[in-house]
Amino acid sequence: MNLILMGLPGAGKGTQADKINSKYNIPHISTGDMFRLAIKEGTELGKKAKEYMDQGELVPDEVTIGIVKERLSKDDCNNGFLLDGFPRTIAQAEALQELLSELGQSIDHVIHVDVPEEKLVERLTGRRICPTCGSAYHVIFNPPKEVGVCDKDGAQLIQRDDDKAETVKTRLSVNVEQTQPLLDFYDAKGYLVKVNGDQEIDEVFQDIQGFLDK
Ligand code: AP5
Ligand code: MG
Ligand code: ZN
Repeated sequence: MNLILMGLPGAGKGTQADKINSKYNIPHISTGDMFRLAIKEGTELGKKAKEYMDQGELVPDEVTIGIVKERLSKDDCNNGFLLDGFPRTIAQAEALQELLSELGQSIDHVIHVDVPEEKLVERLTGRRICPTCGSAYHVIFNPPKEVGVCDKDGAQLIQRDDDKAETVKTRLSVNVEQTQPLLDFYDAKGYLVKVNGDQEIDEVFQDIQGFLDK
């Protein structure tokens, strides 16, 4: 199963991707996570990506397309993949089509996790992540068992650099502008399915499962 998860920042792509990955066992490929790892490791890619991410802007297409090409060409993607946060521009979507046709693959579904924009600021500013395993929590909507501590490994939770109120505003406006043309692009190909992301986390997942198990 080759899937793309789309949605504005904070819509719940990462949260749902973890659940899909656990149930269907397909690799979760998040460009945002790949960039954050590169930043942590201090690589050239990380330095480049950080300049844009800290401002809430998109990393240039050629950089982003390059890392996705490399990742999708790995063997573990032969039996499916789940893209989260890619593509985000029409140029990226076109590059993906080209790459998949080279690999003899195609997209099965594009799942749009739809949440009204006005709900997203609270989701983003209240998010806390685990620096060790990457799990995402929310101080109100999805709190860990012990305040500030990861349930899985006991690490101290942190806030993402781009989840500060100022950066959140730019991220939302950049993404609102980019998203509609992409939704139209995939709708025209018949891949698009919309899921109501403005429900409890488990309810959103039930809707996604209901669709994937059909
Ligand atoms: P990326 O890491 O992809 O960030 P994003 O798209 O802004 O999305 P988020 O990860 O913030 O949100 P999410 O939808 O995953 O939500 P989550 O599940 O965590 O990208 C970061 C940056 O990298 C970009 O700004 C850009 O600079 C660069 N980049 C990445 N990809 C790129 C590309 N293709 N091209 C160019 N640049 C790129 O949930 C959010 C919070 O809400 C959590 O606290 C969670 O617990 C909570 N929550 C989740 N679901 C629910 C629910 N149903 N109800 C209540 N709370 C919920
Ligand atoms: Mg995410
Ligand atoms: Zn953890």
